[in-house]
Amino acid sequence: MLAAVLHEFDQPLRVQEVEVQEPGPGEVLIRIAASGVCRSDLHVMEGRSVVARVPMVLGHEGAGRVEQVGPGVTSLAVGQPAVIALYGPCGACGDCRSGAIERCMSETRRNNMYGLMPDGETRLRVDGQTLYPMVGSGSLAEYALVREAQAVAIPEEVPLEFACLTGCGVTTGVGAVLNVAQVHPGASVAVIGCGGVGLNVVQGARIAGASRILAVDTETSKLDLASDLGATDLLQVAAGDSIAEAVGERVPGGVDYAFEVVGNPALVVEAFRATRPGGAAVMVGSPPTGEDIPVDGRLLFSDRRLLGTTGGGNVPARDIPRLMDFYLQGSLNLEKLVSQTLSLEQVNDAFEALREGKLARSIVKP
Ligand SMILES: NC(=O)c1ccc[n+]([C@@H]2O[C@H](COP(=O)([O-])OP(=O)(O)OC[C@H]3O[C@@H](n4cnc5c(N)ncnc54)[C@H](O)[C@@H]3O)[C@@H](O)[C@H]2O)c1
Ligand SMILES: [Zn+2]
Ligand SMILES: [Zn+2]
Repeated sequence: MLAAVLHEFDQPLRVQEVEVQEPGPGEVLIRIAASGVCRSDLHVMEGRSVVARVPMVLGHEGAGRVEQVGPGVTSLAVGQPAVIALYGPCGACGDCRSGAIERCMSETRRNNMYGLMPDGETRLRVDGQTLYPMVGSGSLAEYALVREAQAVAIPEEVPLEFACLTGCGVTTGVGAVLNVAQVHPGASVAVIGCGGVGLNVVQGARIAGASRILAVDTETSKLDLASDLGATDLLQVAAGDSIAEAVGERVPGGVDYAFEVVGNPALVVEAFRATRPGGAAVMVGSPPTGEDIPVDGRLLFSDRRLLGTTGGGNVPARDIPRLMDFYLQGSLNLEKLVSQTLSLEQVNDAFEALREGKLARSIVKP
């Protein structure tokens, strides 16, 4: 099959033939219909992510149809449409058994994040070498071989080219609001960074019933989209501006919830400073590995909380169907998130667009 492979950091992906094995017990082969390209893919390309290693098939926002199932697979059947979710839980540890599977720290889930199956191997080869699928997904390819826990069946009515976005960006953004911050009706919310993930924080806040949703970005094109998706206030800033002060001018005393969705430690500090006493800031963006978040401890005296998240605290089998319902009922817009659709051969254009920062999401259709 063809796959977009990263061989060297900071170099373009090579679209080439790679080998994929047949699904073993508990494994599913998905024929990818569409895959979004997230800034986390770019972080891996630039070697600034903990999960970065080479050679790696990038992509972790894929949807397609089940091509083949291995022995023992019960939740998916050949031909069914499915989304490849982030961070498949192990299903067996204490956290998984108690329902808190987003906290699963088992070896199975850790391996999954590093692109390995529970046996510590991968099912892909390139030029006779081990090939790693990014976070066990590797969806910028014609096929992805994943654990059953990582794939969730979806209704036929949801087009796969939009459904794929629930693999990461939509689930993370909406989940950061509903699962992590637990935004309450009538709340005030600031969203710093309104790209592929942040726009879904905006949508999540609208779904949660927030009365003020302040969208903050450097790009007018992102603010226009944020407005279409539910933002009530648009704040265009320049890099280095004090966002907390700009937020305080609109909502005196600060907002109930602030989300950093860029991946910049200085902006996590701004998000925290933008909250009111008793409020919460959520770091959704991924700062470079090893960088500290220098918060002023005095802010903590007033019961503020600083939270982080992996994938918006998503439990795939619970959250993907919920998002499909929101979409089918008209409260979640997926169409507006797609700025351009590319072929697999054009995959490097999606990374160029991320660097330029003008578009929301690029979709690749193998
Ligand atoms: N926690 C998780 O599990 C998780 C999941 C997905 C993505 N992420 C991370 O979230 C971050 C965002 O991902 P994305 O795909 O939405 O990226 P993106 O590039 O689509 O969006 C980033 C947005 O931030 C804006 N921005 C840049 N500098 C800014 C500034 N100084 N002030 C205000 N806005 C600014 C950009 O214009 C852009 O709209 C990345 O760091 C990504 O790795 C984390
Ligand atoms: Zn992502
Ligand atoms: Zn577990």
